[in-house]
Amino acid sequence: MDKIVIEGGKRLVGTVKMSGAKNAVLPVLAATLLTEGRNVIDNVPEVRDVLTMIKLLEALGTEVENYSNEKIILDTSKVNNSEAPYDLVSTMRASCMVLGPLLARLGKARVSLPGGCAIGARPIDLHIKGLQAMGAKVWLEQGYVHGEVDLLKGISFYFDTVSVTGTANLMMAAVLAEGETILENVAKEPEVVFLADILNLAGAKISGQGTDIIKIQGTTALKPIECAIFPDRIETGTYMIAAAITQGDVTIENCIPQHLEPITLKLQEAQVDIEVEKNKMRIIGKGPIRAVNARTHPYPGFPTDIQAQFMALMTLAQGQSIIMETVFENRFMHVAELKRMGANIALDGHTAIISGVKGLSGAQLMATDLRASASLVLAALAAKGESVISRIYHIDRGYVSMEEKLSNLGAQIHRLK
Ligand code: UD1
Repeated sequence: MDKIVIEGGKRLVGTVKMSGAKNAVLPVLAATLLTEGRNVIDNVPEVRDVLTMIKLLEALGTEVENYSNEKIILDTSKVNNSEAPYDLVSTMRASCMVLGPLLARLGKARVSLPGGCAIGARPIDLHIKGLQAMGAKVWLEQGYVHGEVDLLKGISFYFDTVSVTGTANLMMAAVLAEGETILENVAKEPEVVFLADILNLAGAKISGQGTDIIKIQGTTALKPIECAIFPDRIETGTYMIAAAITQGDVTIENCIPQHLEPITLKLQEAQVDIEVEKNKMRIIGKGPIRAVNARTHPYPGFPTDIQAQFMALMTLAQGQSIIMETVFENRFMHVAELKRMGANIALDGHTAIISGVKGLSGAQLMATDLRASASLVLAALAAKGESVISRIYHIDRGYVSMEEKLSNLGAQIHRLK
């Protein structure tokens, strides 16, 4: 298994370009199942989760006409298989987003239940409840979610918990349902808004995206999708923190500063200098980092997907900070590893109390999930001495060429095959 080796202590300086958003392309890829024809998607980040979703689409009968230079052409005219097998779904929970589109397109679906996940139980009960309300017969058998329906029907549905992929799944199903669907307490993440906008361009009638209530007027067919994926806000946030934690001076190109506001504000509170331009940000870490508190929330709150990286920064802040995780039940896997580098962190349920230390030291580290791995990379960049991070397949799930991008900024980092 590959490992990443980092010799810490190098100040990051230079320019780095962001890739397309993983969490935006995954639902769009699932949405191609609602169409019959040639879908063209550009600015596709080449990360493992995306490759997994493409394999899944192929297993369902999609033909990959071409995939090069971040552009993919998918022909969905012959989609005829309704089974999403365990070996693909188990490696990526987001594959459950094919459930809604398959029921809408084929009237049947057999999707393996996603396996347990390092950041909590992560049920899909709301996806299932919503599809049942739309008239589908949905049941669990031998680890698979089975679904059958003649024609999905419009509904009014309230999400007890705000769910990103849950909102996407039901929105996609409702696009080809009969009548109007009203989804309440939905996710407002830019990735959900983008999906709605892209579906509308393909002929869907969705309104309210970006607010708490989304309305969908069902239609009978969609045109193929054509779009370019917007830049990844979590990748951007990770590089912002990389600049801050190394006291660097980094310009991040091809980003959407507006999507980063909760992170920008927290970093500014921590006394990091940030200059914002249209599609660009310059992050200058000069002087000591001030300890600040953070509490994760669905968008537009502080993202749970940046919590681990932000905690890495706070381990080196002056004073004590409190970070609360309110979205997931068990998302502090990075804490034990950060402590092995000399961080002073106490955990109390969903709360981490971080007392800043003067320095971290390099160590042998183990990545546990995607964003936790990123936090270890950040800590290692700032630590004294060498760190070796194993199980970095987690990083490959969501970050495009991380070693290359960091190394271009001056980090001493390489991959051991
Ligand atoms: C998405 C993102 C992930 C991010 C998360 C929260 C993608 C591909 N993944 O994951 O990177 O960390 O949003 O911003 O976009 N829940 C239920 N029942 C359900 C569904 C969710 O109880 O049916 C709970 C979850 O356990 C969790 C919370 O709702 O506690 C939020 O989860 P959700 O928004 O669904 O996360 P994902 O969509 O899986």
